[in-house]
Formats: sequence, C-alpha cells, structure tokens
Amino acid sequence: MNSELLIVEDDRKTRDLVSAFLTYQGYSTAILGHHDDIFDTITRTPHRVMIADLATLLTRSHDILDKAWEASPDLVVIAYGQTDSSRPLPHNERLLFIPKPLNLDELESVVMRAREYQFLKATTAEPATSEEFPHFLCSTIIGRSRQMLSLFELLEKVAESNATVLVQGASGTGKELAARAIHQLSSRSNKNFVPVNCAAIPDELLESELFGHVKGAFTGAYANRPGRFDLADKGTLFLDEIGDMKANLQVKLLRVLQSKEFEPVGSARSQKVDVRIIAATNKNLEELVANRDFREDLYYRLSVIPITIPPLRERREDIPLLINHFLGRFNRDKRRLVKGFSREALEILRNYDWPGNVRELENLVERMVTLKESGFISPDDLPDRYLSRRQTGRQVAPPAPLAPPPLEELPAEGICLNSAVDAFENRLILQALQRTGGNKKEAAALLNLKRTTLIEKLKKKNLQFDP
Ligand SMILES: Nc1ncnc2c1ncn2[C@@H]1O[C@H](COP(=O)(O)OP(=O)(O)OP(=O)(O)O)[C@@H](O)[C@H]1O
Ligand SMILES: [Mg+2]
Repeated sequence: MNSELLIVEDDRKTRDLVSAFLTYQGYSTAILGHHDDIFDTITRTPHRVMIADLATLLTRSHDILDKAWEASPDLVVIAYGQTDSSRPLPHNERLLFIPKPLNLDELESVVMRAREYQFLKATTAEPATSEEFPHFLCSTIIGRSRQMLSLFELLEKVAESNATVLVQGASGTGKELAARAIHQLSSRSNKNFVPVNCAAIPDELLESELFGHVKGAFTGAYANRPGRFDLADKGTLFLDEIGDMKANLQVKLLRVLQSKEFEPVGSARSQKVDVRIIAATNKNLEELVANRDFREDLYYRLSVIPITIPPLRERREDIPLLINHFLGRFNRDKRRLVKGFSREALEILRNYDWPGNVRELENLVERMVTLKESGFISPDDLPDRYLSRRQTGRQVAPPAPLAPPPLEELPAEGICLNSAVDAFENRLILQALQRTGGNKKEAAALLNLKRTTLIEKLKKKNLQFDP
C-alpha cells in the first residue's frame, strides 16, 4: 500500500465516500478500517496525509499523533469531528481540523492546504518551523526574506502616522499592494482607498479627475463633479506612476500638499481636504529631478517616508513561498489540482532573474495551472524563456550562436548538396546533444528548434547519441 492519503474510519459508508471523492480528485488513497492499525501502517509505509476522525485520535490521546510524527515527520493529519474544550487539540502546524458533519468541498480545500504545506517543506532549503511558516501582512503581502520582514515592520510603523509616503520599486514588485497595506493598517481603513493612475489618464483630464470640476468649467462639464481628492477625504489617495505627472499638475499637487486645500476646475473657491497621500513610481525620481523632469520641491514633499521594494531576484527565498501561494489560489479559482513544481523546475525558477518580478511569477503560475491541470510541473512544462536562462546561469553569457558556421569551399569536382547539408545538420545535432549531455530539450534550445522537432529529426535520420 503506497498512497498519498490514508483514510482511517471505522464507518464503512463514510470511508468509502471520502475515498471515492478524493480518488476522483486525483489523489491515491488507502483506507484503514481500524484505528489500532494506524501506527503499524504508518511505520511500514510512508503517507503524506492521514485523515481521521478526531474522536479516534483522542481515544488514544496524542500518543498516536506523536508516534505517527516520529515515524513520518512530514505527515499532515486532518482530523474531523467536534472539538471539546476540556480536551484541546495539540497546537501543531501538521494538524488541521474540520468540523463535522464532513463537507467534501471543505475536505478538498484542507487536503490542498496540507499538500501546499508539504510542497513548501520539500522545496525550501530551511525547514519550515511554525515561526517561519508563511509570513503575511494584511493577509495579502507574502514574504519571508529579511528584506520583506523589515518591509512589513516599516509598513506597520508608517501606517500609524499620516505622513506622505513615496513607494519606489521596479515594475511588479508589489508597490500598490504595499500602499493598500498601509491604508488597511491605518486608522483611515474604514474610509476610502482611492487609486489614481497618473500615467493612464490623459493629461488634459487628470486635473479634473483629481480635483473635480464645476458645471460649465469646460465643454461637456454639464454638472459639478467631485474629484478623487473628494472621494479620498479622511481616507487615502494613491497616486500611482507619479513620475509621469506633467509639470503644471505637479505645481497644483504641491499646493494641496502644502495647504491641504484645492480648487475644483472652473471654481475660485478653495476646498479643505484631509487626505493621506501615498505616491508610487517605478521610475527613478531622483534622476528625473536631476534632469529637471520632476520638481525637486514636490519630490521632497512626497518622500517624507521613502519606501523601496526590492526586486524579486534580491530576495529569492520568497520565490517558493509565492509560488505556493499562487498555486493554491489558482488551483482553487480554476478548480485544478496542480500539486507543485518539481525540484528541478523550482531550482530553475529560483535562479531566474524575474525582470517582471512578482507579477511575472504570478502570471507564470497561472499559465502553468491552466495548462497543466494536475500533477507536478516539470522543467519541460516551463516556457522556453525560463529554460534558456538555465543554460547561461545567473551570469550573462553570450547567446548561443544561431547562424550556421561558415561552409567549406565548394570542391573543384563539385558536391552532392543534399548529402552535404544532411551531414552538416547531423554534425550540429550531435554536437548539441554532446554539449548538453544528451538532454534533448536543451539541445533543441541550442539549435533553436522545438524539442519535438529535434526528436522527429533524430528518428528520421536514425541518429543515435551515446553520452
Ligand atoms: N509580496 C507579495 N505577495 C503576494 N502577492 C504579491 C506580492 N507582491 C506582488 N504581488 C502580486 O503581484 C502583482 C503585482 O503587484 P503590484 O500591482 O502591487 O505591483 P506594482 O509594483 O504596483 O507594479 P507596477 O509597477 O507594474 O504597477 C499583484 O497581482 C500583486 O497581488
Ligand atoms: Mg502598480
């Protein structure tokens, strides 16, 4: 008996139902009708998850659990039943609980959580102890790296004040997420968080979008309309892509920051406002200031508290955690059963440079979950972009030559073109295979071919390669 899930239940109907359901979900299951055999079974055959009635576990006290974990340290136990305050459950991250009556959807999601936990343990270099196990801020930002943990601390501290914050970082690092976290953690959280993307709104509309307008202010202004500053009153205004704001608006924004009042377009009357401003940009604002593309005085006003989110390649410990998080989310949303990335695939992703940062990683996991549907994702499933990086490693190496080396001269007696081309092709294919130790996927990448095309060629040409 070698299966992922062990179901321990003395009631036949229940165990058959649970087993049939989980088998249908793609898990391999084993059933045990009597709890006396638990320990023997577990010591004989490793299982990943044990599902058992809570009463069963408690009859034999925590002894069963301790012994089971001694034999199989990564075993996750899912207990279902009624908790009893006189006999509290031991606090252990490997013990998950579902109340009775058993709901199969709930069971499925708890099994998924158990598998996520194990995936994380198997894929992170350091063991995930309870203090280290996923780190969240506001249940949305995830990270365990030193940089992210100090970012969490900073965001919490900043949230207590009303100071203007400037969030900087490359594209997709989580700037908006950080801004939302500050709002959520602040005393303004019950008011609006109003995002404005300064790069997405045409310049001529941005002023009225920010400050509102009065009736007749311009053609088409048929009525008074409040702006985003009004909407954000007592809340937070998030000025995204602030580096793209034009000079005339920079002056107006500076004025609001200084005087806490503004005039709607077409109005001479100032309006008071109580707004906390968080600005963000993926541009280098200091450079823009040096080039006189951004006002220096506004820069200082905005960056009372500067926060920089590091790129993902500088906090690689977060990669498995993020992968696991997105995997769980997309599996749930798309009703898929992808269990994880193989060690080799994960190694490739850990070493990849992630120019698109967390957003790129999120998109990759979504694509993999959509295409793969179940099982583990192997390097062969990854898009070529990630594999070609594998050959060059982290250092930038010259790209593989794509053009054929120069041909020898045409001999005086002439040549059979077809067999010369054929021999030339064979030589290059064999060289590529030799260089990659016989790995067809990598050899195909060196030749700029699809792996399947290379395999077809090898078959057609009856070429053999012995590494
Ligand atoms: N630490 C994190 N934990 C979980 N999800 C994250 C994290 N960082 C980023 N994301 C996710 O990555 C995506 C991009 O994040 P966000 O929009 O905050 O980035 P950004 O820095 O504002 O990007 P851009 O510069 O392109 O506007 C979002 O879907 C977000 O939920
Ligand atoms: Mg953004």
